[in-house]
Amino acid sequence: MFYKKEQIIKALSDIIFFPKSNNIIALNMVENIEIKGNIINISIGFPKLDDPAINIVKNASIKAIKDKVDKNAEVNITAVVETKQGSLSGIKNIIAVASGKGGVGKSMVAANLAIALQKSGAKVGLLDADIYGPSIPIMFNLENERPSVIEKNGKTLIVPIKKYGISVLSIGFFVEPEKALIWRGPMASKALNQLFNDTDWGKLDYLIVDLPPGTGDIPLTLVQSYPITGVIVVTTPQQVAISDVRKAANMFQQEQIKIPMLGLIENMSYFTPAELPNNKYYIFGEGTGKQFAESLNIPFLGQIPLVQNISESGDSGSPVTLNNDLPVTKVFIKLAENLKKQTEK
Ligand SMILES: Nc1ncnc2c1ncn2[C@@H]1O[C@H](COP(=O)(O)OP(=O)(O)O)[C@@H](O)[C@H]1O
Ligand SMILES: [Mg+2]
Repeated sequence: MFYKKEQIIKALSDIIFFPKSNNIIALNMVENIEIKGNIINISIGFPKLDDPAINIVKNASIKAIKDKVDKNAEVNITAVVETKQGSLSGIKNIIAVASGKGGVGKSMVAANLAIALQKSGAKVGLLDADIYGPSIPIMFNLENERPSVIEKNGKTLIVPIKKYGISVLSIGFFVEPEKALIWRGPMASKALNQLFNDTDWGKLDYLIVDLPPGTGDIPLTLVQSYPITGVIVVTTPQQVAISDVRKAANMFQQEQIKIPMLGLIENMSYFTPAELPNNKYYIFGEGTGKQFAESLNIPFLGQIPLVQNISESGDSGSPVTLNNDLPVTKVFIKLAENLKKQTEK
């Protein structure tokens, strides 16, 4: 009997690692497969070797191979401590940008923070994982671009697109925006895994991830499956937005997840008309974001005003922070400094 590696990978892709609610192939846990005659030796990486899930995964893997490949195969599974996953090993900080609901400016914050960090001398990547409304391609004027691929160690990897000095990748590069909406859980997770694991991210100080809004499966799976340094939440000052943020913050702080909350950013805090740059009109109420951050015990990173430059520059594909002459650029530079401080803690 001559087994193919693909048959084994296929059988193992049914094995779920429950702590991360995904299969062991998608999670890149299978570190090595060796086939010698009818003997199959597999090593699987786990976060810790006293994980009670190890035996479940081992037994299920043996059974799957015997059932689906060959009942006479001799299968040996070795549990090893996971090595930091290939494509992500060069990334110092992975920062997820989340929000309770859509339309609060999450993508705008992700884009401008990425640029502000890059201007401070950091190597930055930006991953748009918002399958329900990828907007980074428009914000970076990359709507008609498609990333290329390269071969590395026998694996095909996606190469992010370099724009404004940032390595940019969006789920929007691979799907029609209307089609993304109808994606179901497993398909969406598979695509997201590719954006993380099958991408040549290289060396980065920061990878900023624009998450889908809310507390659905995608943000949950992402924070459970990847070594996220911490989460930033974006809100607007209205009470309706705030109550959704509470749900999101609670999700990230659940016992099994416990991702550090790096801070809260309040967007559209006040309105400043272009002709009166020193006036601030707190049209949605003043101080809500800060009080709220305090009540949730997460750092308050700062406020972003409602200004026309922000939406115009987003629509035209060159985020405001690229322009050193605009007063609002200083806001993002300051936010990035605050964020850096939080990640250094
Ligand atoms: N502070 C702001 N001032 C002006 N326009 C803003 C501001 N924040 C966001 N916008 C605009 O609001 C819209 C929604 O922002 P976006 O970042 O796409 O939200 P989300 O990613 O949370 O759905 C975009 O057109 C964006 O340019
Ligand atoms: Mg968005």
